[in-house]
Amino acid sequence: MKALLLAGGSGTRLRPITHTSAKQLVPVANKPVLFYGLEAIGAAGIREVGIVVGDTQAEIESAVGDGSAFGLQVTYLRQQAPLGLAHAVLIARDYLGDDDFVMYLGDNFIVGGIDDIVARFARERPDAQIMLTRVGDPRQFGVAELDADGRVVGLEEKPAAPKSDLALVGVYLFTPAIHEAVAGLKPSWRGELEITDAIQWLIEEGRRVSSTVITGYWKDTGNVTDMLEVNRLVLESLEPRVNGRADAASELIGRVAVEAGAVVERSRIVGPAVIGAGTRVVDSYVGPFTSIAAGCLISGSEIEYSIVLPRSSIRGVSRIEASLIGHDVEVTPAPAIPRAHRLVLGDHSKVQIIS
Ligand code: G1P
Repeated sequence: MKALLLAGGSGTRLRPITHTSAKQLVPVANKPVLFYGLEAIGAAGIREVGIVVGDTQAEIESAVGDGSAFGLQVTYLRQQAPLGLAHAVLIARDYLGDDDFVMYLGDNFIVGGIDDIVARFARERPDAQIMLTRVGDPRQFGVAELDADGRVVGLEEKPAAPKSDLALVGVYLFTPAIHEAVAGLKPSWRGELEITDAIQWLIEEGRRVSSTVITGYWKDTGNVTDMLEVNRLVLESLEPRVNGRADAASELIGRVAVEAGAVVERSRIVGPAVIGAGTRVVDSYVGPFTSIAAGCLISGSEIEYSIVLPRSSIRGVSRIEASLIGHDVEVTPAPAIPRAHRLVLGDHSKVQIIS
């Protein structure tokens, strides 16, 4: 069995972060989202992983390398344009050969991994196996209709009038039957070859498509609100550790991780929170559900429920909440006079100011 990990796409909903960084590399608890997927694949006993990449190939390759750090053998498969999930299967045809495979969307996050569903697939070996979860707004997802026995009877991609609240999670298990299904697909209204349509084709052909409704939490990490929520969730099981240094005037409360070379001075950190390697937190408050990446400076500031990427500095600012701050960003107060906001914002930035 192989894995096909999808790490293309342009990540428009996470702009401006994704102008300079692949969405799958945005960190959750200081670890790229994509790494959680790779770890889940490895934990399920799969060794060969094809990673489908697009414009951000170089960046993904430099983060993941040959996969040996994860105990995996990684092959990169270039998708020339983001033409859909089924298109990714098409271009991976040679790589996949006649093996069964799990297709894993690199911006999805499945708590509890995929061991159980991979084991179930190996046992029952349906033509396709999907994962479903109940969502508030099914119109943003692929949606499944089940019959009274829980069998999948129909699937629709982003329906205007959803037949259920069961959304397709971005992890699918396939036998080579899927190659027949994707071969005849036509682009959808959004111009993509939809994997949802390919699975629908299998259903219409009378093939066996089984489903598991997962209660474990998952999110499509394509937007900021979801990123912060997943960050919160992962931090909840953070292992407290102090590999850096916290002075006597500082207080670390609850689950706090201070990574190697990080320094905390005259500050109060209420966990769960992680302070990345080499970061300095001085005269500040870091509140729950905050991930500060490596090489940052937080000085005379207050921040909580936020993600800060590497090498950014926040000085003399209170208070920051529910924010995603990119790398090499500087946040400082404006001079007292004139009382004005001074902004240098990248394209597609979003700022909310209290005034
Ligand atoms: C894709 C699939 C959709 C699925 C979703 C899960 O949507 O097309 O069926 O529910 O992933 O993340 P997209 O991210 O392309 O909008």
